[in-house]
Amino acid sequence: MNRPGPTASAASLLREEIARSGPLRFSRFMEIALYHPEVGYYRRGRDPFGKRGDYFTAEQLQPVFGILVAAILRRLRSEMGEPEDFTVVELGAGRMEMADALREFRYCPVELGSSDWPKRFRGVVFSNEFFDALPVDVAVRRGAEFVEMLVDWRDGRFRWTEGPPLSGEHAAYAERYLMQAADEAWVEIGLEALRWMDRIAERLESGYVFTIDYGYTSRELLRFPQGTLMSYRRHTALEDVWADPGEQDITAHVAFTALQLHGERLGLQTVRFESLAAALAAAGEADGFATALSAPTEAERLRRRLQLKTLLFGFGETFRALLQYKPPRN
Ligand SMILES: C[S@@+](CC[C@H](N)C(=O)[O-])C[C@H]1O[C@@H](n2cnc3c(N)ncnc32)[C@H](O)[C@@H]1O
Repeated sequence: MNRPGPTASAASLLREEIARSGPLRFSRFMEIALYHPEVGYYRRGRDPFGKRGDYFTAEQLQPVFGILVAAILRRLRSEMGEPEDFTVVELGAGRMEMADALREFRYCPVELGSSDWPKRFRGVVFSNEFFDALPVDVAVRRGAEFVEMLVDWRDGRFRWTEGPPLSGEHAAYAERYLMQAADEAWVEIGLEALRWMDRIAERLESGYVFTIDYGYTSRELLRFPQGTLMSYRRHTALEDVWADPGEQDITAHVAFTALQLHGERLGLQTVRFESLAAALAAAGEADGFATALSAPTEAERLRRRLQLKTLLFGFGETFRALLQYKPPRN
């Protein structure tokens, strides 16, 4: 393995790889920038979350987010007939913010470096902002075909360079999910997300896949003529996804139609696709949010009301919740 020396950075590794083998697929760029074991953004031991990090997630709004998600999972367990082995697998569990709220379940967080999860289980695969962090490739629509955009290093910076027309599984992805893109629009090809759906469908014997993230349906593609790649650093969204690889997060909106249709081919039925606000409101309405909001002190009650407001009106309007169901085999 090519181990980086003490001064290696994600940028220098990427430059070396381009010098060795030519322009890179964007998924390779993301893989090194975010997940290289020593210099990747998520692997360097620096905490990307919270006030002093680069971004907030809904999961950090504890305990309210955890209480509402636990209520949703309880309802799903009941719909499955309360199986004793009911297991909740969380993909991309990050700082384990959900561990406390989900302690009543057999809870199995999956993170980089601790990706041991049951080979067969009944229950729910839950994730919040997992799919948007997975590597994607990039292309531009040119009439009937899509041309891949690769990353090159020229004149002292990373730049896009045009590659060949898409072929193989990339072309099949574009044909299935990206045909609503306008001519000259930039698009992302999320094969890694589909591979995760394959893994989920293989291991989940029966139960639900509950995915929270921001993203678009194929019909909404027209809203993103420049594509959806974004970088986050110190709470600022940046469009320059190449600046400082390894030092800033890179995300792509989730292609929900791809998750739904690919899931359906794998036997996962779409139960509901709605805003996060609608999903959380349904979870809280049974008791008028009393469980989520009740606390011994006025200060804590106020903190929780603010969390709920941020969840329903901040995250809730941009984030979406997809619920898929895998029925048991007879
Ligand atoms: C945007 S963070 C979200 C973390 C957490 N769910 C939250 O909402 O705060 C995405 C997480 O997915 C994890 N992740 C990305 N690829 C992964 C993989 N292949 N296996 C396990 N975890 C992964 C990252 O390490 C990161 O912690």
